[in-house]
Amino acid sequence: MTDVAERLEELRDRGLYRRLRLVDGPQGPQVQLGGRQVLLLCSNNYLGLADHPRVREAAAAAAMRWGAGAGASRLISGNMEPHRQLESRLARFKGYAAALLFGSGYLANTGVIAALAGAGEVVFSDELNHASIVDGCRLSRAETFVYRHGDLEHLAWGLREAGGRGSLIVSDGVFSMDGDIAPLPQLLELARGHGCRLLVDEAHGTGAVGPGGRGAVAAAGLSGEVDVVVGTLGKALGSYGAYACASAETIDYLVNSARPFIFSTAPPPPSVAAAAAALELVSPDRVERLRANAALFRAALGAEGLDAGRSQTQIVPIEVGAAEPAMELCERLLEQGVFAQGIRPPTVPEGSSRLRFTVMASHRADELENAAKLVGQTARELGVAAPQATAA
Ligand SMILES: Cc1ncc(COP(=O)(O)O)c(C=O)c1O
Repeated sequence: MTDVAERLEELRDRGLYRRLRLVDGPQGPQVQLGGRQVLLLCSNNYLGLADHPRVREAAAAAAMRWGAGAGASRLISGNMEPHRQLESRLARFKGYAAALLFGSGYLANTGVIAALAGAGEVVFSDELNHASIVDGCRLSRAETFVYRHGDLEHLAWGLREAGGRGSLIVSDGVFSMDGDIAPLPQLLELARGHGCRLLVDEAHGTGAVGPGGRGAVAAAGLSGEVDVVVGTLGKALGSYGAYACASAETIDYLVNSARPFIFSTAPPPPSVAAAAAALELVSPDRVERLRANAALFRAALGAEGLDAGRSQTQIVPIEVGAAEPAMELCERLLEQGVFAQGIRPPTVPEGSSRLRFTVMASHRADELENAAKLVGQTARELGVAAPQATAA
């Protein structure tokens, strides 16, 4: 039997030990942490809807009308009007014929990928795809070809090598740790050219990019063209749960084959109603505020000599390298009232530990400007992540 204590010790030795922080109160642009108010720069509540009064009221009203839980899976007795309504609204929002709710984005990706690919086939997955995609590929029992990040030539080579066994190309739309956007038109062209489906995970795109916050697929003009779009209700939509959008036939197939859908309790009505209320609040105005805040924050970090890498969106990473200095920078910033979690392997590749800042539409410009100054100053003091300053 594996010695758990030894494994924990090993994680500590490698600087990879994780512990939970406790937030006291709702998720706003500032939160209470350890009895102090801190600026929240690591939440995926991008549009500030998790604590919006209309969203909270919708959850409370649904709890009173439908109950706290669905009590069973959708295919047994847990299918309710709020599920049906949200699915049709999400499908319309995304420009698809149909949608299907899942318990979470993690469950959606594992379920959809394993349903669409199987033994003897090949799935093509970007090396920086989210862990839920990686696990979906594993569960599918298909061979997985991991192509270099955004490298279309590498992907095309893999597709040729698969000799007709390719079944699915899968990519984050907005990459969760780098904030860049996948080359979606080219991915679709390759998928079509090789008889594969394309699945795009819009976890960080929905509510954040594209026309009216419809996501990276819509921004590329590919709504209804990409075969399956997965998204979560847990980020810009401020709730919990997830969905897949596709043709009516594909959704019908997922109802009959996606195991996390079939063998898990239906999403709770309060979460579903909260997401439906949030969807009504995803306005071009909110999305524009998020975009402008992200641009402002990237520019302010740049003025401090800090490089946000490939970021084009509200996800703004500052790469440090090793895990320990990344965590030290994180803790030093927290002491000064800026909360941005350090991200380490296996969430990011070895040697690319970072602070992953996430901007919200509800942040004020001066909050972001001051935070960027503090990050620059602290990074210089520690001698990390600030090449211009450390070279001087
Ligand atoms: C790209 C991506 N996909 C899927 C998920 C999982 O979504 P959820 O939090 O709803 O399980 C995440 C969450 O971190 C993500 O970043």
